[in-house]
Amino acid sequence: MTAAALQLDLHPAVEGGLQLEVTDVRPETEDILCITFEDPLGGPLPPFVAGSHLVVQYGKGANAYSLTGSGDAPSQYSISVLRCDGGAGGSLAMHGLAVGDRVNVSRPRSSFAPVANAAHHLLIAAGIGITPMLSHARYAAEWGGDASLIYVYRPGAGAHVAEARQLLGENLTECNGRVRFQEVLAEALTSQKLGTHLYVCGPDSFMETVLAQARSLGWPKARLHSEAFGAAEFDAGDPFTVSLARSGMKLEVPSGVSLLEALENVGKTVPNMCRKGICGECSLTVLRGKPLHRDLYLTDQEKSENTTMMCCVSRSEDQELELDL
Ligand code: FES
Repeated sequence: MTAAALQLDLHPAVEGGLQLEVTDVRPETEDILCITFEDPLGGPLPPFVAGSHLVVQYGKGANAYSLTGSGDAPSQYSISVLRCDGGAGGSLAMHGLAVGDRVNVSRPRSSFAPVANAAHHLLIAAGIGITPMLSHARYAAEWGGDASLIYVYRPGAGAHVAEARQLLGENLTECNGRVRFQEVLAEALTSQKLGTHLYVCGPDSFMETVLAQARSLGWPKARLHSEAFGAAEFDAGDPFTVSLARSGMKLEVPSGVSLLEALENVGKTVPNMCRKGICGECSLTVLRGKPLHRDLYLTDQEKSENTTMMCCVSRSEDQELELDL
């Protein structure tokens, strides 16, 4: 394949990124594979902050995966991928990688970074949601941060457990069942020092349970952070209305239909490429209302400003949003 053809085949979400070589493939559990990439010439890789992810191309698609290693002067990037047999094929493609394969990846992107002035970082992970937390825990260990982790996993199916134990010591609480987790969560949410930030990653329903409980106990929204896995994991979402300021149109966005699809259905063209919340192409300006951000493109800071949203995956927290469209 010529260089020009290779360039044409690049997924938009990895344009301007790197071509790396697979240097290690190691089963972490029966269903989770840990894959390491390095520069083929052995060069250093761009540094990244804890909680960053990498978009990896597979065929014509691309998926985002949390980086589990240290972002300080890295010579390799590591991701851990759960095999999803009924998914879009990304995880199966990752599980098919072998040492020596070349992959196109984005530069690391941060949307789940530790908050610098937090008094404590309360990390809560379920299943493969451990991956960004590992990077947070590593960062805390390297830089003397104050962090604790509650890790929920099925007996025998926990990934990176030994690493988490080594990084966190007594600040790690492992839960193998729902009842135990509920007890631990209730205790953790009511006993944190002032200024603690909470970070949660796992299945949607798990994250929603944790966040709802924290909110009901008075945790300010600005101290709650969550990391979704990507569009494939999203639920259908609640219906909402958008009003389009420039054309004066009002539009209903039903549950199960993305804002991008709703706009396309009425003939509104919005540039888009990945339709997974990772490339940033479908960005829209929000004039009023609070988006429910579900993308991996905007930073936490950009999300908190609520002036931009990725319409391929994000929805609305308010009944109505007004867009500059
Ligand atoms: S199309 Fe890529 S972020 Fe929406």
